[in-house]
Amino acid sequence: MNNISTSNNWDTALYEDKHAFVWQYGEDLLKFLNPQPGELVLDLGCGTGQLTEKIAQAGVQVMGVDHAPTMIEKARQNYPHIHFDVADATNFQVDKPLDAVFSNAVLHWVKKADSAIASIHQSLKPGGRFVAEFGGKGNVQAIVKALYSALESIGIPQAQVENPWYYPSIGEYATLLEQQGFDVIHSTLFARPTPLAEGEAAMANWIQMFASTFLARLSPEQQIQIIRAVEEQLKATLYQQGTWTADYRRIRIVAIKL
Ligand code: BEZ
Repeated sequence: MNNISTSNNWDTALYEDKHAFVWQYGEDLLKFLNPQPGELVLDLGCGTGQLTEKIAQAGVQVMGVDHAPTMIEKARQNYPHIHFDVADATNFQVDKPLDAVFSNAVLHWVKKADSAIASIHQSLKPGGRFVAEFGGKGNVQAIVKALYSALESIGIPQAQVENPWYYPSIGEYATLLEQQGFDVIHSTLFARPTPLAEGEAAMANWIQMFASTFLARLSPEQQIQIIRAVEEQLKATLYQQGTWTADYRRIRIVAIKL
C-alpha cells in the first residue's frame, strides 16, 4: 500500500525511478521496528518491496501487502523470495497473529484511520507492536495551499477539490490508538524537508504522481497551467540551486497492543 491511494493504478517505473526517497527515508524507521530473527512481521503498504526486503534481511518472516496491484506485481518481480499480496489497510486479515506491523509513508492515504487501526489491532499478538511513519499535521502545507490558490484563480473553489490525504496530529492519532487498545510508547511529529529528484521538473513530477486528484476534471492544458502557477508560488521558498524541496512533516508512532 505504499502508497494506498484513491487511484490504484500507480506508475511503478516512475515511482522507483524518481521517488526512491520514499523508502530511503523509511530505513530510519526500521531502527524503531528492531526486527528479531524468527518474528512474524507485516509490511503494510509495501509498495515495490524495498523495505520489506530490508526487514527480511533481519531473519524475519515478513509479508508485504499493498492496495495497488501494480505495486504488488513489481514487488514480486523485485523480490521473488518474499510473499506479497494485494490488501486493503482498512480491512485485512492474517492467518497467524503477528509480532509487528510496520508501515512507512502510507497511512496518510487512509482517511478511515479507525478502520485501519482496528485491522492492525486484530492482526497483532498481545504485546505486538505497530511501528509507523507517515505524513503528519502540516505535511506539504505550502504545496497544498499553492494548489488551492492556483485552482481558485481559475474559478475552482477548495470545496470542489478532492484532497486525498489525512495528516493527523500526535494527539489525534494517539487518541485513536488508545481508544482501540494500544499503548502508545513513542510519538513524534517533525519537519523533514525532502529534496525531490530531477531538478526543475521535480515539483511537476511530484504533483502528477501524488496530487493528481487536485487536477481531476481539468483539461491537460489547465493542468499544466495549475502546475506552472504552483511552481511560481513556491519557487521562492521551496526551490534552491536547482532542487525542489517538499515541506514534509512526519508523524512517527510506536504502539503496543495491550
Ligand atoms: C508523504 O510521504 O508525506 C507524501 C507523499 C505523497 C503525497 C503526499 C504526502
